[in-house]
Amino acid sequence: MSFGNKMYVSALVFCIVISVARCSGNLGFPPGFKLGVATASYQVEGAWNVSDKGESIWDRLLHTQPSLSADGSNGDVACDSYHLWRRDIEMAVELGVDMYRFSISWPRLLPSGFANYVSEDGKRYYNNLIDGLLEKGIEPVVTLYHWDLPQYLQDLGGWANPLIVDWFADYARVAYTLFGDRIKTWLTLNEPLIICDGGYNKLWAPYLDDLKVAAFLCNKNVMMAHAKAYRMYDEEFRPLYQGKVSFPNIFFWFEPETPADAEAAVLTRQMWHDRYAHPVFSQAGGWPPELEKVLLANGKREGYPYPRLPPFTQEEINYVKGTYDFYALNHYTTRLVRRVKPGEAGSWIFYGSEEINVAIVNDPSWTTAVTDWFAINPTGLRKQLHWINSTYGISDILITENGLPTFEKDLLDVNRITYIRSYLEQILLAINDGINVMGYTAWSLMDNFEWLAGYTVKYGLYDVDFTSPNRTRTPRESARYFSNLTKTRTLTDDNIYYLRNVTKNTKALKTLAIMEC
Ligand code: BG6
Repeated sequence: MSFGNKMYVSALVFCIVISVARCSGNLGFPPGFKLGVATASYQVEGAWNVSDKGESIWDRLLHTQPSLSADGSNGDVACDSYHLWRRDIEMAVELGVDMYRFSISWPRLLPSGFANYVSEDGKRYYNNLIDGLLEKGIEPVVTLYHWDLPQYLQDLGGWANPLIVDWFADYARVAYTLFGDRIKTWLTLNEPLIICDGGYNKLWAPYLDDLKVAAFLCNKNVMMAHAKAYRMYDEEFRPLYQGKVSFPNIFFWFEPETPADAEAAVLTRQMWHDRYAHPVFSQAGGWPPELEKVLLANGKREGYPYPRLPPFTQEEINYVKGTYDFYALNHYTTRLVRRVKPGEAGSWIFYGSEEINVAIVNDPSWTTAVTDWFAINPTGLRKQLHWINSTYGISDILITENGLPTFEKDLLDVNRITYIRSYLEQILLAINDGINVMGYTAWSLMDNFEWLAGYTVKYGLYDVDFTSPNRTRTPRESARYFSNLTKTRTLTDDNIYYLRNVTKNTKALKTLAIMEC
């Protein structure tokens, strides 16, 4: 070993000792804590027009405007999980996970979008996947809607049309009826923020530009649709199957840049989180009150005759309130918030900073991942778990997504391991603080179609060769790390994993020593 490497090893051992000491509190996963991996239908299934599958809004968008995705690609084939689902299950087995989160493609199960006709082929596909997982002792966790709306329903107004509340409930009933005997955890709508604020801000399909009105109509409809699907399960299916229902909220953790920005941070959380949480999780229900006032005043000033954010009636408030069995959280990153300076315009990737006059910025001390929106700040997750707990009085929280994007095909993905481990550490610290984090689902099982980033961005524990007809899947080092983790169930031991495995490689050693210290 060269002198340079010896230095790295010493530095590394020092870091590990410190880290073990820091972790020596209690960083074993509590009994019952579940580890899992996640995917979503359009991102992995492919087979976009096989059998009688209907067209989705993503099929339509990328067939008509292919240049919208970074590499001109689409999800026509993706990981071909429609054909390769056995290999997906095998990978979940290799990882030793307790649960696998996937989504049902609405137009694969209901080709017309409506419950008038259920596809036999769609039924067969999801039955195979569910049964295959259960045979291996892996719990299937099902998302009903991960953004692939049937195009026909979009033509009828999509999420801006209040009738979609019934259309979604009909679809949910079909799924509960077909698969409810075997699914114990249902997630209704993945990240409603992306459905509305992304879909009507030309960031995601249907790629419309209608933020002032349609996005807010969508806000109310997604909350009502979730509530209806929850209440239907509660009344008709829970007595039979005793499952649980919630929906994953994406939540950038927002911290005030200075103590003077505390109020701006509250309004920011109301804008991009509570709009999709307060109606369901708060004691009072309805929209977050300060934000509702601000939006009403802005709309009046602009001459709108009606509130753009449609008010809930008291009956609707009561209907939506409390429609959860746990809090499902997709967490990736943190942002700083400050009031805009005089003359400065509010700005952020999502619409709304100009409505509430805030600027969303990065702390320069945080490392960023390859995509500019992604700042790495693990402690933000622990703060956020506390915030959810204290704001809504909820202790049962399931982390339904967390993971690191890279551009490289690199099989030795030390950065991803470090990211996952550091976020898990914050989860375990939160558990030790008394919050019942029920489990952790890594995004993603494998590289997949990352929406408008196409195949340029990778989140996979498994690399996928998108040039091979077999879409060959190869485990990255992070897959080995994760399978070690599912065996040892402690973060203290996984430091030893580093020493024994990852650090055999000089490049990894260097990266790790730098990142750790
Ligand atoms: C989550 C989504 O918000 O982020 C996933 O639920 C997505 O579907 C993941 O793949 C990564 O996001 P992005 O924008 O980097 O592709």
